[in-house]
Amino acid sequence: MAAINDLRGFIEALEADGQLARISRQVSIRHELADVGAALARTGTGAGLFENVDGSRWPIFCGGIASHRRTAIALGCQPNEIIDVMDSVLDQANGIAPVRIEQAAWQANRVSGDDLADFDLPIPTHSRGDGGAFITGAVTVAKDPVSGRGNLGYNRMLRLGPTRFGFNVNEWRDVGTFWKSRDEPDSPFPIALAIGLDPAIMIAAGVKTPVDELFIAGAIRGAGIEVCKGTTVDIDVPASAEIVVEGMLHPADRKPEGPLAEFHGYHGETWNSPTFEVTSISWRDDPIYQTIVPGWYEHVYLGNILPREPLLRRFVRHLDPTADVHIPPYGNGFLAIIQIDRDNPGSPKNLAMAAMAAHINIRNVVVIDRDIDIHEPSDLHWAITNRVHWEDDVFTVASAQGHEMDPTADTRGVGTKVGIDATYKRERRDYGERVAYAPVDLPGYLA
Ligand SMILES: Cc1cc2nc3c(=O)[nH]c(=O)nc-3n(C[C@H](O)[C@H](O)[C@H](O)COP(=O)(O)O)c2cc1C
Repeated sequence: MAAINDLRGFIEALEADGQLARISRQVSIRHELADVGAALARTGTGAGLFENVDGSRWPIFCGGIASHRRTAIALGCQPNEIIDVMDSVLDQANGIAPVRIEQAAWQANRVSGDDLADFDLPIPTHSRGDGGAFITGAVTVAKDPVSGRGNLGYNRMLRLGPTRFGFNVNEWRDVGTFWKSRDEPDSPFPIALAIGLDPAIMIAAGVKTPVDELFIAGAIRGAGIEVCKGTTVDIDVPASAEIVVEGMLHPADRKPEGPLAEFHGYHGETWNSPTFEVTSISWRDDPIYQTIVPGWYEHVYLGNILPREPLLRRFVRHLDPTADVHIPPYGNGFLAIIQIDRDNPGSPKNLAMAAMAAHINIRNVVVIDRDIDIHEPSDLHWAITNRVHWEDDVFTVASAQGHEMDPTADTRGVGTKVGIDATYKRERRDYGERVAYAPVDLPGYLA
């Protein structure tokens, strides 16, 4: 398999592995595309490449990082090596600096000035509860005006007009810290949006870190990520991008923006957000637009699973060096599963406490044995149903600090954390071994 260094290479690799669904039937850019993208992720069918979108001049891709198998393809490893790879690339000592080049494929076509008013970016309206058409799959590229370091992140952007967007940014995001560090914090602040990227850059952009996330993407690829200066802004933008949108953030010009399907599975609130004014749009020949179906698997993988599993595993392995961990996509980052070789009857509860402390988001922790498939929700349910005596095996920590968007917590994120020891307590009652039928090559029997 050729090395992946852009979205096209990723799409090829997915297709070679049977992980790409090409949708040639026409779909509407309003809801239908997201409905199909969500179904592809839910059923584990593959990423979606929509080749005929009513309302889009370009094909639209989604769902590249919406499963373990596809994430492994993106990272160039086996599914069971994902946490090891992420642990290694998140280590700052392994970061690899980006490499500046003079020309990028996205410089081939460009629209700016008055022409922008007639140029429609193909922005889907995703969930029926969303407040409009949102850019969700763009990586925001910014530069620290003090240190000059770059930064990647995600910001939902609501289309307000042909060149104007509402730009959602939490108060602790680096891009906000950057503009506030200037003598005139409310003056326009340049950013670029890179759309259609090497998945290494998509994965790196989901990491909250005080270094340039391009170093993490470089560590994933084992080589510096090529960047090229923006056309109207002095920012180094990934050269592999399919589409680059440049412009100015207006921190003090605020407009209502939202709601949008959120990682927790409800719709977020409407915010009074800064606005973003587009100054230039550039694109490769025959570009592919990329979107993330919000509030769905890829959103959770990028924001809550891949950047968080390594530290969770470190916390848990401090107590049990052989324990494995998983943050499943259907748990929205609030659920952690710990798998152990059970020994001491008390240790599952200690491990659950370690997991709760690893990340503020983690609220429910289930500890399981090795005979449960950590990636199989029905297996987890079997363990909870058949190995948990509720009075003894469940404990709660009331009024603990969680994520402020946790739907079960109060608006400051204060809520109850729950630990569930779903391991087999043979000392309570020994039922022998669990029923297990050997795996078979089913297609071979059905042929
Ligand atoms: C798909 C996705 C969408 C996100 N949308 C937003 C958003 O709208 N506003 C925001 O402040 N953070 C959002 N985030 C979170 C940040 O972009 C992300 O945590 C990033 O790593 C910020 O890191 P930084 O502060 O180091 O730049 C989103 C994350 C993901 C994965």
